[in-house]
Amino acid sequence: MKQDFLTLADLTEADYRSIFDRAHALKASRKRKEVVTTLTGRHLVAVFEKASTRTHLSFEAAMYQLGGTVSTSVSASSQIARGETIEDTARVISGYADCIMFRTFGDDRLQAFAKASAVPVINGLSEGGHPVQVLADLFTVEERLGGVKGKTVVFLGDCASNMGRSFVEATRFFDFHLRLGCPEGYRPDASLLAAAGGRVHVTADPSEAVQGADVLVTDVWTSMGQEAESARRMKDLHGYQLNEALLAQAKPGAIVLHCLPAHRGEEISAGVIDGPQSAVWDEAENRMHVQKALLERLILG
Ligand code: CP
Ligand code: NVA
Repeated sequence: MKQDFLTLADLTEADYRSIFDRAHALKASRKRKEVVTTLTGRHLVAVFEKASTRTHLSFEAAMYQLGGTVSTSVSASSQIARGETIEDTARVISGYADCIMFRTFGDDRLQAFAKASAVPVINGLSEGGHPVQVLADLFTVEERLGGVKGKTVVFLGDCASNMGRSFVEATRFFDFHLRLGCPEGYRPDASLLAAAGGRVHVTADPSEAVQGADVLVTDVWTSMGQEAESARRMKDLHGYQLNEALLAQAKPGAIVLHCLPAHRGEEISAGVIDGPQSAVWDEAENRMHVQKALLERLILG
């Protein structure tokens, strides 16, 4: 049976422990400029229906650095844009690849693609989640703060976004406390919150949310595909900007994460993202190290 990675629920706490251990080792090897060839002869196809910088380039770097190969397809220039079905596309790519990364819109599209694929499919961001990003985020927390378990992580802004949703889901596997600071209408579904089993506290008061936090996270207020709602979102969320005043209420050694791309002056102030408590550049680099370990797990078993 192939192992997909569409949501964090597709793997277990034990899988994540071994993926993180392997990612730490692979990062150390890379820093020593050692050559690793665990994926020699293996091929990844990455398919994008939405824009990307980090996901595109970190998956390509991960495959090549492990001795594998990769081809990347952007849907605007493929037959998907002319109406070829997602199922036919997945079946065809399965014949070329040992693993497929897919970035798309609705989760129904992701599920249909994975069902038709004969090889493992990785969610490279959908409306419902961004699980590879949250793995890199929690790996960065472990690296900077020595562990994730028991830490207080605060997510500010659009908590119903793919990033907010994947953070809620992650509490089940990484055993941390999550506080969401957002107005009504920007909360994840009640069913998702209920599945987190009491590990998530939601408040509309950003100051209450950040008290004594170990990690502060935010994401863009307008995700890809929501551009028509941008003006309303800016108005609704302006009090939730991750800025110096809120950061000062977290623990003194707290770190700041943002999956990027960021909009300085909107969801995060320039002083915070470019300041000494920001871990966003390590976070972006860690995408590659964690994805290497994930690719080994899905391709080699
Ligand atoms: N964080 C992230 O997924 O970035 P890209 O959209 O550039 O891939
Ligand atoms: N929430 C953002 C994340 C981008 C990496 C989006 O979906 O556009």
